[in-house]
Amino acid sequence: MRGNKAQAVLITVYGNRAYEDTLAELKDTLTDAGFSCTAAVAAVAEHSIMRRFAAGRPDAQDAQELAAFAETIRSRLQSGKIPAELDLPGSQPYREYGGVPMKPQAGKACTRCGLCAEQCPAGAIHISNPAKTDARLCISCMRCIAVCPSRARKVSRILLAAGSLKLKNACSKRKSNELFL
Ligand SMILES: Cc1cc2nc3c(=O)[nH]c(=O)nc-3n(C[C@H](O)[C@H](O)[C@H](O)COP(=O)(O)O)c2cc1C
Ligand code: SF4
Ligand code: SF4
Repeated sequence: MRGNKAQAVLITVYGNRAYEDTLAELKDTLTDAGFSCTAAVAAVAEHSIMRRFAAGRPDAQDAQELAAFAETIRSRLQSGKIPAELDLPGSQPYREYGGVPMKPQAGKACTRCGLCAEQCPAGAIHISNPAKTDARLCISCMRCIAVCPSRARKVSRILLAAGSLKLKNACSKRKSNELFL
């Protein structure tokens, strides 16, 4: 991708825990590609793996806040008064991504319809045997669980319970959407 100095608005969506260096890394990546980063948003949505955290978000309050952010960004772009350097949280070296050990598998309810294999963004499910997941390819996005019409796909209950316990303190309190200009 080449930016050719086009103005970019950076957006990260996270599951009410933390977005850490994501915006800083996104800015570095886009700047290297020739974009001019003019604004950034960190927005909260339901946690894709442990869905009890930030359940139901984005909600009506989020929608209102994000619409207001969009208006502010629009006025800023129209005014042409854009600061030379967008100051964002995050540091270098970026925090190492350790991976997520949760890889969904299908149980007895699987009808072999193949939808999960079709929709998996990583090609980790083989259409001829959708009950199995290639753990080396799976990115733990949980899309297959969301699309399965038979609710046949699940991750390990033990890992899910352990993960929820670990994240409980960090994820339970409502976090706000943030705008950086
Ligand atoms: C592999 C993986 C890692 C995640 N890591 C974090 C995290 O570090 N912090 C956090 O708050 N949410 C984390 N989440 C939750 C998602 O960021 C959150 O659910 C978000 O809304 C997903 O938005 P998206 O579907 O647009 O990517 C993670 C989700 C997945 C699937
Ligand atoms: S979407 Fe569900 S029912 Fe269909 S193949 Fe996948 S696991 Fe089986
Ligand atoms: S969790 Fe995501 S990457 Fe892993 S098998 Fe399901 S859809 Fe594919």
